[in-house]
Amino acid sequence: MTRVHIEGVSKSYDAHPVLHALDLMVDAGYFFTLLGPSGCGKTTLLRLIAGLLDPDAGDIRFDGESVLSRPPEGRNIGMVFQQHVLFPHMTVEENVAFGLRMRGTGIREARPKVNEVLEMVQLAGYNRRFPRQLSGGQQQRVALARAVVVDPVLLLLDEPLSNLDARLRDDMRALLRSVQRSLGITTICVTHDQTEAIELSDRMAVMFDGKIAQEGSPAELFEQPVSAMVAEFLGSTNLLPARLLDRSHAETSLGPVHVRSCPDQLYAAQEDVLLNIRCEHIAILPAVEDAEAPSLARLAGNHVAAEVVSSVYRGGLVFYRMNVDGTPLSVIDRSDRQFVPGARVVLRIPPEHVSVIRDDARTFSS
Ligand SMILES: Nc1ncnc2c1ncn2[C@@H]1O[C@H](COP(=O)(O)OP(=O)(O)OP(=O)(O)O)[C@@H](O)[C@H]1O
Ligand SMILES: [Mg+2]
Repeated sequence: MTRVHIEGVSKSYDAHPVLHALDLMVDAGYFFTLLGPSGCGKTTLLRLIAGLLDPDAGDIRFDGESVLSRPPEGRNIGMVFQQHVLFPHMTVEENVAFGLRMRGTGIREARPKVNEVLEMVQLAGYNRRFPRQLSGGQQQRVALARAVVVDPVLLLLDEPLSNLDARLRDDMRALLRSVQRSLGITTICVTHDQTEAIELSDRMAVMFDGKIAQEGSPAELFEQPVSAMVAEFLGSTNLLPARLLDRSHAETSLGPVHVRSCPDQLYAAQEDVLLNIRCEHIAILPAVEDAEAPSLARLAGNHVAAEVVSSVYRGGLVFYRMNVDGTPLSVIDRSDRQFVPGARVVLRIPPEHVSVIRDDARTFSS
């Protein structure tokens, strides 16, 4: 297992800067996911780690040792890219054995190891097929087998599941995780898909414009994003302008809201902030008779009277737009019931799910 340390790495293409003194540490054996919008430099970073590109500045270390002077083949990295480029004229077995053959292993000698990894990716017995005789998901599993057969110290995955349909992606995601766990390989995976990132990762980072905006556990990023951009990139959230009253209360257009304890540096600055409330954390209480009196409901503390503006059912979830006395709130409800537009409800906003973030005035829109 290898610890990867990226230290102040910068990279430009033709004087166009893509990575800016980027720092990142990936601990040994971790499944680490990089999320970020198109063009922010994710593939560039993977290519630098793999040695397919050289950084303009900074260092890349494996277990403390710089690898910059090593060519790609000297870094012992397994890679799976978005376009699973199998050799079309080679069988599954030949494709998987390729890395071993390059190291001088004969096909006969390689066979037990090839069979072992094919079994791991649930393709035992597919040795003699050609890529054209496989489904997209099967080709992707061959690509994974080919990447891990050489016992790499590091696995780099660039959107490995993006070509698959939703169901296959779920299966492949579970398979990826179990292969990574059983081999204990440090893995850096690039994805656009937040669900994928949460399910797979021990740690993750959101990247914008060639810089890491935030790094942490999936729960940390979702529960305590450092900026509006990170919060919005992670999807489905409400960002409410607010002014801090004290460490755990803020004034908003909904009235005073009880928040999770505010980080010291934000509290000290006494600045205008945003309250981040993820849509799935707002609870809808059954409609009550006196919900007509929003000002009364407000006083109950993080309970507000709301009117349903729209509701859309999407596979086990209902997506609502609510109106709270002129303030729009989006809510995602996991329930069989569905309130119709015009219905009056009470929303409960649990203080532990209200995080305070800096109002960086720049929000991400995809
Ligand atoms: N070989 C190259 N020459 C010049 N510019 C490049 C080259 N490769 C990438 N770029 C530019 O560098 C930036 C970062 O590209 P990169 O491929 O790392 O983005 P990415 O985050 O992987 O995006 P995506 O999510 O779309 O794959 C982009 O603006 C891209 O146009
Ligand atoms: Mg890319």
